[in-house]
Amino acid sequence: MPGSKIIFNGPDKTETDLKLAIENNSLIHIDHLDELYLIKELAVEMNKKPRVAIRVNMDTGVYPIWDRFGFNYENGQAWDAINKIMLNDKMELVGLHSHIGTFMLSPNAYGIAASKLSDLALGIKKKYKKNIQYLDLGGGFASKNTLKGSYLQGVDTSPTFDQYAEAISTAILNAGFVEDELPLLLLESGRSLIDEAGSLLGTVISNKRLSDGRRATIMDFGVNILFTSFWYDHKISPAQDFSQYTEDAVLYGPLCMNIDVIRENVTLPPLKRDDHVVVHTVGAYNMTQWMQFIAMRPAVVMIDMNEKAHVIRNRETLDSIESAEVMPEYLKKFKL
Ligand SMILES: Cc1ncc(COP(=O)(O)O)c(C=O)c1O
Repeated sequence: MPGSKIIFNGPDKTETDLKLAIENNSLIHIDHLDELYLIKELAVEMNKKPRVAIRVNMDTGVYPIWDRFGFNYENGQAWDAINKIMLNDKMELVGLHSHIGTFMLSPNAYGIAASKLSDLALGIKKKYKKNIQYLDLGGGFASKNTLKGSYLQGVDTSPTFDQYAEAISTAILNAGFVEDELPLLLLESGRSLIDEAGSLLGTVISNKRLSDGRRATIMDFGVNILFTSFWYDHKISPAQDFSQYTEDAVLYGPLCMNIDVIRENVTLPPLKRDDHVVVHTVGAYNMTQWMQFIAMRPAVVMIDMNEKAHVIRNRETLDSIESAEVMPEYLKKFKL
């Protein structure tokens, strides 16, 4: 991907990172004033005019507000940062950005964010006669997973893309832009794009009765592989013929910690050792957050549009772990 097409985001951009981004004409979304001042210094040093946007956080009616990222709209920090950029010719302000949260179930929150970003863009037009090229509304659109504690299933409660689109486009169209000066709309959808594309295949290790009589089934995957089971009730289905009778069970992973619970209560046909299950909708934030703890991480297989399978990440071996480790010379040999 050419650097000029990369939007560079996040609170921890090192000086080396920023130099690389400036050199490649990337779009740098500024998170805080220290970064703003550093980019200014680098611009002078490198004799370049970086293309920047600011990340804006705001009250969209969903709490808590993600106000640790970017500049706040309501208290004037965002407008202040805009002026600091505009009154100095070292950077070019090309966009405005917000990412209001994740798994946001309210399309209206995006409408409010789009109105507030539009308001800033129109303020820039009024004061500096400059059009902002794009509004980036970030990601956070809900996938079809079911949040823990939710009575209804995610497929029934998550808004559709049309509902999000309606809220955002209505807010921008009503904001007061001249028609041929409407900004480009960018989105950064993560989980809603990829969650449904991933499934996890697992195997039953054992069944047992807990002290209160409940059935417990122990699987060969736990929160080490399925981090998102901390906040989702993932749909789980048997991967072989099953009986029509069911029993409520707790599903545990294989780790040595009590927190390793995949489902506190799930209604499934009784599964026996070596039976397989499919855990659905695990494509987002699992492989990025899985950990190497007790068990090796599994292989990842992609099934393409022609239903052909390709291994796209090998299963871990002891070598994968040891290759990164360095042993001090004097510890290499010792006598017991
Ligand atoms: C700036 C930014 N944009 C987009 C995303 C994607 O969010 P989601 O996966 O909730 O759509 C993230 C996730 O952390 C983010 O920090």
